[in-house]
Amino acid sequence: MATTLIGTPVNRIDGRLKVTGKAQYAAEFQLEGMAHAVLVGSSIAGGKIHSIDSAAARKLPGVLLVLTHENRGSLGKMPNSLMSGGTTAEDRPPLEDAHILHVGQYVAFVVAETLEQARHAAALLEIKYDPQPFAIALEDKAAASYEPVEANFEPLSVSRGNFEEAYDAAAVRFDATYATPNEHPCALEPHATIATWSGDSLTVYNATQWITGDRAVLAGAFNLPPEKIRIIGPFIGGMFGSKAATGAHVVLTALAARQLQRPVKVQLSRPQILTTVGHRSETVQRLELGAKTDGTIVALRHHVRTHTSVGDEFVEPASITSRMLYQVGNYETSHELVRLNVMKPAWMRAPGEAPGQFALESALDELAYKLNIDPVELRRLNYAAVNPNNGKPFSSKHLLDCYARGAERFGWAGRNAKPRSSKVGNVFLGSGMATATYPGYLMGATVKVSLKNDAAGIRALVSTAGSDPGTGLYTMLAITAADSLGLPIEKVTVELGDSTLPPCALAGGSNLTGSTAPAANDACLEIKRELLKIASQTADGFTGAHTFEDEFLFANGRVAHRSSPERSIAYADLLALSGRQAIEAQAQTAPIFGQNDNYSFQSFGAHFVEVRVMEEIGRVSVSRIVSVFDCGRILSAKTSRSQFIGGVVFGIGHALLEELIYDPQRGQLTNADLAGYLVPVHADVPDIDVSWIGEPDYNFNSMGCRGVGEIGITGVAAAIANAVFHATGTRIRDLPITPDKVIASHPARST
Ligand code: MOS
Repeated sequence: MATTLIGTPVNRIDGRLKVTGKAQYAAEFQLEGMAHAVLVGSSIAGGKIHSIDSAAARKLPGVLLVLTHENRGSLGKMPNSLMSGGTTAEDRPPLEDAHILHVGQYVAFVVAETLEQARHAAALLEIKYDPQPFAIALEDKAAASYEPVEANFEPLSVSRGNFEEAYDAAAVRFDATYATPNEHPCALEPHATIATWSGDSLTVYNATQWITGDRAVLAGAFNLPPEKIRIIGPFIGGMFGSKAATGAHVVLTALAARQLQRPVKVQLSRPQILTTVGHRSETVQRLELGAKTDGTIVALRHHVRTHTSVGDEFVEPASITSRMLYQVGNYETSHELVRLNVMKPAWMRAPGEAPGQFALESALDELAYKLNIDPVELRRLNYAAVNPNNGKPFSSKHLLDCYARGAERFGWAGRNAKPRSSKVGNVFLGSGMATATYPGYLMGATVKVSLKNDAAGIRALVSTAGSDPGTGLYTMLAITAADSLGLPIEKVTVELGDSTLPPCALAGGSNLTGSTAPAANDACLEIKRELLKIASQTADGFTGAHTFEDEFLFANGRVAHRSSPERSIAYADLLALSGRQAIEAQAQTAPIFGQNDNYSFQSFGAHFVEVRVMEEIGRVSVSRIVSVFDCGRILSAKTSRSQFIGGVVFGIGHALLEELIYDPQRGQLTNADLAGYLVPVHADVPDIDVSWIGEPDYNFNSMGCRGVGEIGITGVAAAIANAVFHATGTRIRDLPITPDKVIASHPARST
């Protein structure tokens, strides 16, 4: 059947709910008798709680409960990995004991009748600490470190061929070290939880990207079967990784609600969000490249130093794309993980790829200058048709088309590669490019579709427990079901964000479209078969029909003969004929993590960037970006475009603005708010020319679509840094590219 909506710019079906304020976010649910909680975090980075005196706090009017490690009570074992169905923000349960591992670690949970009373009580807690030495900086020699084994479903220390030999023999050698800072996902909606018990059943309204993950964690914490727990989160105001793990605040809210036998609500403050929900850890990356004079890269080594927390392991696997992006015969990758007194780091948009691509794609640009080869040409020369790291062909790869189209739309041809060659007034212009890449993941989903006929007429309901944090899942599923069933999109309703719906993977790893769309489509196919079965019992020429793909059309709520479309029957009539109110079907997809037996699954893209640099004041502004992506078939054109743009905007922040800064004396963040932690605003973002190749990848799933959520950020920072070099002749290898770094490297200063 010809599709009518797939790939076309359909408006967000939840748009009206959002702009009219009718979309309810976790913190907005109002429950009878709801009490309010405030979290209190440690002010020291390492040591022990000596004592907590809560007498004054407890005496305040309205105060209901002060939970600390002394009265928390027991908690069951919580799952903590993607494969175990749920993750916790930290391995150690909240309020477990007196040990303090980082600033902000929760030491008390104060509940009162009103938020103001809870805040007042929290301020009256007298907490005494026994501080101990701590480590906060990656370069701290006293900090413990080790070599981690795996992350993102990939082994981390990998070698192929003989790097040393190939590097030593290479005609051109390049060796440089790049750094990326601590960063934060900084979603607009604060993390919020409301918990309420009824007997031994728990209901939790949560700002979450993983409904079924929260349920698994709380089932573990409270020793309950998952069916006793309901997680509700129909709308989420952004997440970017920070709402995947179930936070300590979620567990504590449920614990307090049980103890008080009434609903309890908590909402994190912006400083708490920046300190306690996990961040992207900083990296120091050494990149060594050996090449022939014709541009063939023969040797590559990528070593990453990054941090985890004292109590947990989290790796920002920055080297993983270096071994698959280009056809290099001899390579080595490795990581060193340093234990610091910080919150456990977490996934943040394209974990691994984003900082890793900054280093690799900057190094490619530097090598291009060393070789005097155009940077696009250098990438073409080293194109990999087969994933060098596992020997499998890519299921579908159109990277060369991305380079060609990007170069064309940007106007790259004839570029004068000489640095400082373009100046208008006191503004230097520069252009740079980089490759984007992100793996194809499916984490699996079950989707139910129900075709109903009631007073409102024929309509379809699509349901799954996935989260839509603004990504467009609602819209994409409506498009998929409307097209598959042959119904106008207004006749399709999508239900998400409730654990009573069929189980669904997290909104993460750019997997949810790829996981849910094929399941929704399969469920629709089953419904169509059922409709045809009913039709075949009628006399109108449908008798004996067995297949519909070639014989029948499903459009406008009717099934028709392809050969003579005027012979048709309405779905509503078929339902009436069968005496049924609804036809329901359910289908599911299985996980894939970047490869199967036959293929490597990977998305690609290319960014072309123009910057303007005012050298005297160190100001870099991005004036143009052209990005072209190869993510398989694009189902929802408008929301996918928004995802790509969002990723690129994230990349501008990564390149120029974002950086969490710790005070080395106290281990506290010095910029734990939106005044100090800078994210791009409209003035920082030029018009972004986004397009895609759109060639379906049916080796990946039946809808031919890979995810689009994360690839946008990958490569952007390198493209910008490369453009800054082209503009000024200054290579900045240390993100973010702030005015001080641009000024410090001004040629006039070094003489
Ligand atoms: Mo996203 S960083 O995979 O939640």
